[in-house]
Amino acid sequence: MSLGIICSGGDAPGMNPAIKKFVDYVYEKGETPYFIYNGLEGLIDGEIVPARHKDVAGIVHRGGAIIRSSRSKRFYDYEYRKKAYENLQKHDIDGLVVLGGDGSFRAMDRLSHEFRLNFVGIPTTIDNDIYGTDTCIGVDTALNVIRDALDKIRDTASTFSRAFVVEVMGRECGYLAAVSAITSGAEICLIPEADFNKNVAAEHLKREIREGRSYILSIVSEGTKMTNELAEWLESEIGMETRITVLGHIQRGGSPTVNDRMLAFEFTVRAVDHLLQSENSNKVMVVEKGAYGMKEIDEIVGNRYRIDPELLGMLNRLD
Ligand code: F6P
Repeated sequence: MSLGIICSGGDAPGMNPAIKKFVDYVYEKGETPYFIYNGLEGLIDGEIVPARHKDVAGIVHRGGAIIRSSRSKRFYDYEYRKKAYENLQKHDIDGLVVLGGDGSFRAMDRLSHEFRLNFVGIPTTIDNDIYGTDTCIGVDTALNVIRDALDKIRDTASTFSRAFVVEVMGRECGYLAAVSAITSGAEICLIPEADFNKNVAAEHLKREIREGRSYILSIVSEGTKMTNELAEWLESEIGMETRITVLGHIQRGGSPTVNDRMLAFEFTVRAVDHLLQSENSNKVMVVEKGAYGMKEIDEIVGNRYRIDPELLGMLNRLD
């Protein structure tokens, strides 16, 4: 059998450990692994080559993806999806492992309804916005990058008696912001999933300042689009000199953490095992309360991710 691996959409730390495990494990099973380079764009253009052990030597600790990734506008067009499918056939690829996020799974769902496909999606995005799984490859590393940045920002904030507004990624999902705020002891956290009560926050912060608080750390999820507004409010209403730090794409890079490497290994081995036993299966790997499983792609893309209410509860206890 020939199995392919492709990375699609925003890259996330942990893709390389998954790629390495894929190649090693497929060979261990006596089958042939293929790389699809450059994401869905490369699939359309037929950038498909056999993978060798030496291609994946020394990559386990590296962020990014050695086979690259892309977001493809052409894939929205049926003609290009057909071309992508024909390229898989041309190379006799019997099954595909897709490392990607929500958008990539939607694209694969579309392809699977039009053509006979055998693929397993592996949730890979720092945003943690995929329905049906507690976590995704890349989330833990991104959280640790943010934690490191917040620890450093706190050093200067506390020394200079300033407020800081730190914007983190996540698209419409506030998971990265919420966990970062809780674990870094931030005073304020704004996420798309929760309202921010300015009056309550102002009363609380002013009392704390009267009692000796000299700096404020706030985390804003990019999806709220409230970074500038919050900074202005901290200056005008709370009366503290304020700086903004947008963490940006550093959150997508760096050496994958031990947790992300383990998740990549666990997902990949299960995905390959499943593909070797199936012919027309369109599933996505998930992990729920520590247990690994699979869900139909239709269920994953047909539902919207919701932030864990327990996490929201912890967030409400920030002040
Ligand atoms: O989905 C991952 C992500 O990093 C989001 O958090 C962010 O909004 C987006 O991708 C950034 O996209 P780009 O790399 O195209 O600027």
